[in-house]
Order: sequence, then C-alpha cells, then structure tokens
Amino acid sequence: RLLIVDFGSQVTQLIARRLRELNVYCEIHPYQNVTADFVRQMAPKAVIFSGGPDSVTREGSPRVPQEIFSMGLPILGICYGQQVMMHQLGGKVESGHGTAEFGRAYVTRQGQLDLLDGWFAEGPEQVWMSHGDHVSEIAPGFQVYGTSPNAPFAITADPERHFYAVQFHPEVHHTPHGKTLYENFVKLAGFSGDWTMGAYREEAIRLIREQVGDKKVICGLSGGVDSSVAAVLIHEAIGDQLTCVFVDHGLLRKNEAEEVVAMFRDNYNIPLIHADESDLFLGELDGQSDPETKRKIIGKLFIDVFQKHADSIDGAEFLAQGTLYPDVIESVSFSGGPSVTIKSHHNVGGLPEKMGLKLVEPLRELFKDEVRELGRELGLPDSFIGRHPFPGPGLAIRCPGEITREKLAILREADAVYIDQIRKHGLYDEIWQAFVAILPVRTVGVMGDGRTYDFACALRAVTSVDGMTADYFPFSHEFLGETATRIINEVKGINRVTYDVTSKPPGTIEWE
Ligand code: XMP
Repeated sequence: RLLIVDFGSQVTQLIARRLRELNVYCEIHPYQNVTADFVRQMAPKAVIFSGGPDSVTREGSPRVPQEIFSMGLPILGICYGQQVMMHQLGGKVESGHGTAEFGRAYVTRQGQLDLLDGWFAEGPEQVWMSHGDHVSEIAPGFQVYGTSPNAPFAITADPERHFYAVQFHPEVHHTPHGKTLYENFVKLAGFSGDWTMGAYREEAIRLIREQVGDKKVICGLSGGVDSSVAAVLIHEAIGDQLTCVFVDHGLLRKNEAEEVVAMFRDNYNIPLIHADESDLFLGELDGQSDPETKRKIIGKLFIDVFQKHADSIDGAEFLAQGTLYPDVIESVSFSGGPSVTIKSHHNVGGLPEKMGLKLVEPLRELFKDEVRELGRELGLPDSFIGRHPFPGPGLAIRCPGEITREKLAILREADAVYIDQIRKHGLYDEIWQAFVAILPVRTVGVMGDGRTYDFACALRAVTSVDGMTADYFPFSHEFLGETATRIINEVKGINRVTYDVTSKPPGTIEWE
C-alpha cells in the first residue's frame, strides 16, 4: 500500500482517486498522525506528500518525521510536500517576492528522468500551479528536471534515493498528463496495480465494523444510488444491527416506493421501516404554491418524520449517510462563501447533531462513478445503479403551483411514459436527468370529435457532468413527436406536450 501524508490540500482526495484508477491501494493520513512509528507499523511501499495551505517558512508549520527519509521509501512531494522535502533535506524555501504562481503554467524538460517517461513528447507540458512560496535552493543530492517561468525547480529529483518533488499538482484535471507521473511513480515503487473495487469493499467493511462495534445504525434510505450503496455495504458489514428508514412523502415516481421496499427488504433482507407519510406531507402542502415554502415544508417534515421513526429504534448510536467526496468539498467551500441561495436544498444535514448520533459515511472518499462501481461490486442491478438523480423534494418541485393528488397521479403516468420512451430509444444513459413537469395551466384541445380541456406538461432532459451546469438534450423531432403522441394518448388529463430547451444557467434543471 501507499501512504499519502495529508498537509490539508483541497485536492488530496484527487491523488487517492488517481491511484485507485491505477489499481493501487492507498491510505490518506493527516500529517499530525504520521510519526516514525506510525510509518514503520504501516510499512507502506511508497509515500506521497500532499500539498497544503501553510508555509514551511512559518515556524511551527507542518513537517514529516525526519526518519521517513532514511527508511528507503520512494517519496513523491507535491507543492507544499515538495517544499517540506526540500526544507527538511537541506534546501531552501522562500516566500513571496512576486514568484507566486496560480493556474496554468508550462514546464520544459531539463534532462532525463524515469518519473517523466511519456512526458514532453510534444514539447512543454501544461501543469497546474498553486503556490505562494517557492524553492530557492534545492537539497543536496537533488537535480532539476523541469522548469517553468516562475518555478525554476518545478520538477526536482534524487533518482538514486527515489525522491521526487514537483511544484505543481499532477492530480488535477488541468495537468492533462498528470496521471502518467503517478503511473511512473507507482511503477518505480514496485506496485503491481492489482488492487480492485472488491478490495475497497473489504476494507470499507472492516472499517465500518471497527467504527460501529456492536452498536446499532440507522440509515435514511431515499432509493437513490448513494444511500442505497451505503445501506447495502453497511448491511454486509454489520448485518441486522442496521435498520433503514425510508420516508415516503407521497411525492415519489410511479411504483418507486414498492420497488425500493422490494429491493431492500425482500432482496437484501435489510430491516426496513417504510414510513408512508404521504397524508401528512400532502396535507401540509395543500394550498401552497410558493416554491420555497413548499421546499421548507417538505424539508422540515422530513426531519420530524425521520426522527420519529428513528426514535422507535432502541439504542441506535450511529446515523449512516451516503455522503460522497464532492459533497464534502462543496460543503467546505460553500460554508461562509459569498454564494446566494438559489434554492434551499433538501437534505438531512444537521440531523445527527440534533439526534445526538455519530455519523457513518463509508462513501466519503469516493466519487459518483466509483460509488456506482462499488454498487456493481455489491450486486446492485445496473438499472438501479445507472438511475438519474432524483431530488429530495420529489415530484413537488415538478408540479409548479399547487400540488393536488390528481396532478401527481397524472404526472406519474406521464413521467413513466416519457422514461419508457427514452429507454426504448437507448438514450437513458446519454442523459443526466429526464423528467416531466406538469404545468399549472389547462389548455384546449380536440380529440376525436370532442373538445378537451386538460393540463399541459413540459418534458425536460439535460446533459451535465455534475448538475451545476447543464444543456438541454437534442432529441430528434421524431422522438419528440412520438413521445408527445404517446403521452396524450396514454395519459388521461394531459392534452398538450412541450419540450423545455433552456440550459442551466440561466434556467435550473428542476422547474422549482
Ligand atoms: P437544479 O434544479 O438546482 O438542480 O438545477 C440541480 C440538481 O440537484 C437536484 N436537486 C435536488 N436534490 N434535494 C436534492 O437532493 C433538493 O432539494 C434538490 N433540488 C434540486 C436536481 O434534481 C438536479 O439533479
């Protein structure tokens, strides 16, 4: 395994992700925990020092134990990690003086280095820099292998000891060939690259057992991919010490509640409380048409209801959540940020403190596609794993204006026909999210020889990478025509179909 010493960079997890992509097992540990004894006990095959926000020129700033350099381990230092290496091995690091570099830079080659196999094939390499300090004198034994205009020591190494130090961040997207450096590094360190998601699963199970012991865990199950994978994984680890609570607010899609219950209770034998609270939610929403009011009502009721059912589970000490790594980064960068609230997003944040529960978050280090891979590993069906995201407030935000049971019933049917069309045409996996919104207008139509006066609906389908920005999906006219015909013929209550061609921004994906 490989040890990543975390000095607090925003992108440390990306290093781990790159290594997982190379099928290398790694563990991230905060620098405070990394003592010489710790390293000896862990016995890693190689070490990476992450970047970090501090300055090695500041007294008391983070260091590694000096012995780590005499254990014969290959070491790669990145950004702050590079500076720590230089500083502790006898070089010099300085602050400021106009040599800070943020963003794109180009590194040119200065000699031959095994770490750089495959680099510079087409001239200078684009890299991503983000540093205030810089190395002004390299440590004895090191040589320069790459420079950028503002970083004369962009790549340095002591190949004999397998010490490598780079000023830039090879783990980020904006260093397009960064993965090659990691690949070369792990090869040099003797990794065979045979680690898999199956091994991750075993390790995650071990950690859950260690954290939870013989205590009980509650998991809020939404039917979405993240909470489902978390639930199945935790159940594998601790069996019936886990109880899932599935809050059914009556705003789910056609057959959704039945499918979730069948999957978890019947297929996986996970103890599941199906809290059918639709009367409560729909009652409180009655007559409400303001989007934020609707969201707030649902958010608050959800917490109350979840808590009520959780309280019925005696002696639970942990709350499991399917938090992913991007949620972790976003919640850090969002808190206190200058961003305004576009929509009050519905989640169960704040619940654990309120309920006095500790958190179990086994997916905290993973990205969405890795969670899907883990889900496959756990035997969840592909149709389930590849599902489009579905928002917490459910159909409420796809029913602009007042919500009635009648409208919800129509919406469910129309949505089911639309998704069926998309699947039949093999387009489901090309689309980030697709759904129908039922509009708060009735329009006049003619069917047979009679007049109709029914609801209009809008189809929405977008492509996106992360839901933050999106574009409408370019369906063919044939597809749109056929789908409109099917919806009007098969769904009683709709006589007009429109297609929403707004991108995000300026629109949002959902209608409310
Ligand atoms: P918008 O409509 O803001 O949606 O462009 C971006 C993504 O977030 C989903 N969404 C939500 N997800 N709780 C959720 O869990 C919410 O309150 C919520 N509102 C929107 C939306 O479906 C899309 O994927």
